Amino acid sequence: MQDTTVAPASRMLLGGDFVDSASGETIAVRNPANRGIFAHVPRAGAEDVDRAVKAAAGGFETWRGVPPRERGRMLLRIADAVEAKTEALARTIATETGNALRTQARPEAALTADIFRYFGGLASEIKGETLPLGEHVLSYTRREPIGVVGAIIPWNAPVLLAALKIAPALCTGNTIVLKAAEDAPLGVLMLAAICEEHLPPAVLNVLTGYGEDCGAALSAHPGVRKLSFTGSTEVGKLIMEEAARRVVPVSLELGGKSPSIVFPDANEDWVVDGIIAAMRFTRQSQSCTAGSRLFLHSSIFDEFLEKLVARTSDLKLGDPLDESTDMGAIINEKQFRKVCGYVEEGLDRSDARLVMGGLPPESGPLSEGFFARPTIFADASNDWRLAREEIFGPVLVAIRWDDVDDAIRMANDSHYGLAAFVWSRDIGQALRTAHRVEAGWVQVNQGMGQVIGQSYGGVKQSGIGREFSLEGMLDSFTQKKSVTVNLGIPAP
Ligand code: NAI
Ligand code: MG
Repeated sequence: MQDTTVAPASRMLLGGDFVDSASGETIAVRNPANRGIFAHVPRAGAEDVDRAVKAAAGGFETWRGVPPRERGRMLLRIADAVEAKTEALARTIATETGNALRTQARPEAALTADIFRYFGGLASEIKGETLPLGEHVLSYTRREPIGVVGAIIPWNAPVLLAALKIAPALCTGNTIVLKAAEDAPLGVLMLAAICEEHLPPAVLNVLTGYGEDCGAALSAHPGVRKLSFTGSTEVGKLIMEEAARRVVPVSLELGGKSPSIVFPDANEDWVVDGIIAAMRFTRQSQSCTAGSRLFLHSSIFDEFLEKLVARTSDLKLGDPLDESTDMGAIINEKQFRKVCGYVEEGLDRSDARLVMGGLPPESGPLSEGFFARPTIFADASNDWRLAREEIFGPVLVAIRWDDVDDAIRMANDSHYGLAAFVWSRDIGQALRTAHRVEAGWVQVNQGMGQVIGQSYGGVKQSGIGREFSLEGMLDSFTQKKSVTVNLGIPAP
């Protein structure tokens, strides 16, 4: 297998310097499309975390005093610099994540620039309030930064998710130590290098390391004053426990098992395309918002599935860097095996009907990478493991319903509550349903990705807090201080 030495671009950013880990240890980065190692990054441990948090704490003393609009201007410059490098970023993302360049990696790089631009423009919105307490009192609030933010992100949209932590945290005057995911650190390091050219040293610190050593040390570090995590619900709970120990605020963007509810009047091709988009098949469904439980009205069940199978079969699996590829590879062997395990379970069930897909190809070019085929099981029941657990792979379950109350009850019978999709031409019916579904985000008659400016986040075990918006930035990355002034002191 191809082995390369560490390139300068694959060093961590710590206190304004590009560094190796204190131990000198590294992590191999694999290309999921061919399983080959193509780069190494530093393996940060507790010592690196400690240095990074101390550097960020030092940086905070000056950064908090930089006028917000000036901070915003730096973010706007970063947006331009990212935009100039979107193609290099996109290729790096595609190579390390296995996400297809055309359908995923390129849009991710473009959205990253937009995220910096959006938050850069919000710097003057970090406003407080005055309280009407009478003529002899002035009472006002300030939105102050919290301090050093400890941020931990996953690998499924690594650069975009890094931007969603970095931009709002820095805009509001915090400094940050961000840990990239071990499976997709290179795009994030590239982003760090771009940012660093436009920021004072130590404001942004980016570490690469495993969750158990680097991530755990970061979440437990006493110098970290705010924790922001995106990833599995399981690890999210550990982060929240650490936050509880020190009573620091925590934001969590966790998993999902999102329902798509299709009414009988929505038995149409555009809905089929919407279901494919909502399922995020072109990201191998490695998305927390994936609409992975398809609730089809029984009167259209078979006909709709037939169309869905036909359209989904058009998706081209293959080399993520090939412009004609729609769908790339699963991130790593562990996730690949996990996805295969769910497919096997479906195949083993006598009551599950496989209508497309199945286990991955065992020969040919696709067998060289972690390629999973789009797979649909029909006549599923909402209590199967396949319908309850987040598979994070292209495995869709289709469940019948007759009564809308039943459909909504099943949709809500989940410990998750991130996204939902409702499909009907009867807008009254669609909105009544949308209002009853327990989810942070419901889309009606579309299955799009998150939009900048919307407050995005989950209910139940899908998370706490909102991202992507002004409100999310203020709630997650500032703390309010009240200042009350007596205007009626006696004359001297
Ligand atoms: P994970 O939650 O273990 O990893 C996410 C991040 O947390 C990574 O940076 C990892 O290094 C870090 N981490 C892991 N253990 C940690 C710990 N003890 N303390 C601090 N940080 C830690 O997710 P993983 O293992 O990559 O995927 C497992 C499952 O999680 C997936 O199958 C999927 O169901 C879910 N997931 C959900 C995501 C989402 O966007 N909601 C993203 C990634 C995974
Ligand atoms: Mg894990």
